[in-house]
Amino acid sequence: SQRTLVLLKPDAVRRGLVGEIIGRIERKAGWSVAAMELRTLDRATLEQHYAEHEGRPFYEPLMEFMASGPSVVMVVEGERVIEGIRALAGPTDPIAAAPGSVRGDFGTIVRENLIHASDSEESAEREMKIFFPAFS
Ligand code: GTP
Ligand code: MG
Repeated sequence: SQRTLVLLKPDAVRRGLVGEIIGRIERKAGWSVAAMELRTLDRATLEQHYAEHEGRPFYEPLMEFMASGPSVVMVVEGERVIEGIRALAGPTDPIAAAPGSVRGDFGTIVRENLIHASDSEESAEREMKIFFPAFS
């Protein structure tokens, strides 16, 4: 099975949607939470995580938003969980996200789209090392 790094972003925590989103993940047969913590992300961590977006116009507002309050940082484990959580989350833009997906049901604007999930096996390995360096 696979492991993936999931962030429930500060908007999900502020809006009280953590239980709802974790519930959707847990209800998937065979998926489970392997690590989880409520954590306010610091600049250095966010710079590593979002390195690919440095210099884009949305980068600074994204960094500010992601540091604006606690996130839930998780490793989720299970069959095809990398692809599966991306599907459960829906596309980046909440307007384009179908009802039934987290972003489709609860999303408001592109930046505050509630959830992050690694987009490939390589990203999952890289991101798990950033957020859970001691976890293997
Ligand atoms: P993550 O799961 O958070 O990585 O989202 P994603 O993979 O669907 O999107 P991507 O990695 O391209 O962008 C990372 C995050 O930057 C998104 O989740 C948004 O919060 C934000 N973002 C991406 N593109 C835009 C954009 O065009 N405008 C704004 N305002 N924010 C963006
Ligand atoms: Mg991404």
